Amino acid sequence: MKEVDINKAAWSKISKKHYEHFKKQILNKNYNFNPIILDEIGDVRGKTILHLQCNTGADSIMLAKMGAIVTGVDLVPDNICYARRLAKDCGVDNIKFIESDIMTLMDFHHVKYDIVFTSDGVLLWIPDKKRWGETLRHCLKDDGYFYVHDSHPFYLIFDEEELPKGCLSAKYPYFISKANVEYGIGGYATETVKETTTYEWMYTIGDIINALSSAGLFIEYLNEYDKCVKGMANCDAEDENKLGYLSYYKEKIPLVFSLKATVR
Ligand SMILES: C[S@@+](CC[C@H](N)C(=O)[O-])C[C@H]1O[C@@H](n2cnc3c(N)ncnc32)[C@H](O)[C@@H]1O
Repeated sequence: MKEVDINKAAWSKISKKHYEHFKKQILNKNYNFNPIILDEIGDVRGKTILHLQCNTGADSIMLAKMGAIVTGVDLVPDNICYARRLAKDCGVDNIKFIESDIMTLMDFHHVKYDIVFTSDGVLLWIPDKKRWGETLRHCLKDDGYFYVHDSHPFYLIFDEEELPKGCLSAKYPYFISKANVEYGIGGYATETVKETTTYEWMYTIGDIINALSSAGLFIEYLNEYDKCVKGMANCDAEDENKLGYLSYYKEKIPLVFSLKATVR
């Protein structure tokens, strides 16, 4: 798919910088897993985890350090090379990485996992949520579960620049199936590279629930939060757990959601 290839080229522009950033953070013990996620996933010791859209592997490494046996998947060849390198740098070996577009993963990967995990800036890159749901089910054991933590689509409709000023300016449509064309990549771990085009597919809460439900998954919970990991949502304040929030909209609008689904 042309748009996915363009996204692949865009993400590869920041692979090396992400690797360097996360290596420094992890080795200096400055990289903590998002506390909301930590609380929700609990004890993963001994579990096999498929980590989708793993980027250069920082969160995969966190999951492996928690005792899981992890397989990370990402679209970008450079991300996979750097993820392998980062795991080595961090002395983590209960981990491997696969280069694949999520849209084609189930054509060739037939291993079944206890947990399929994905988080923080992932759903916007998925062109076909129905196929995504089928892929999750394909990769899960019959007693396994899927966990996602990502931007809340209600928050995504607003102009991020305006939010800290207390202005809710609806910039993007909530209901749209074709991709939004964006300019710039990165910005959460490294500087934004402005000279690049990406395609991002908006999703609704209904799109997610329906994709999972039609693939045979049962929603155990859907939690919504007015706080998120630092670097997302242009937050102007931080709580005691180092989670960011918008001071003007605290308790008013959701920034992220988490969802756990089991096989029916
Ligand atoms: C914001 S990053 C996710 C980072 C994540 N929080 C982590 O664990 O490091 C989004 C990732 O999605 C990947 N991606 C984008 N489209 C993809 C696709 N179609 N299939 C697989 N990975 C994809 C990108 O290469 C990028 O690494």
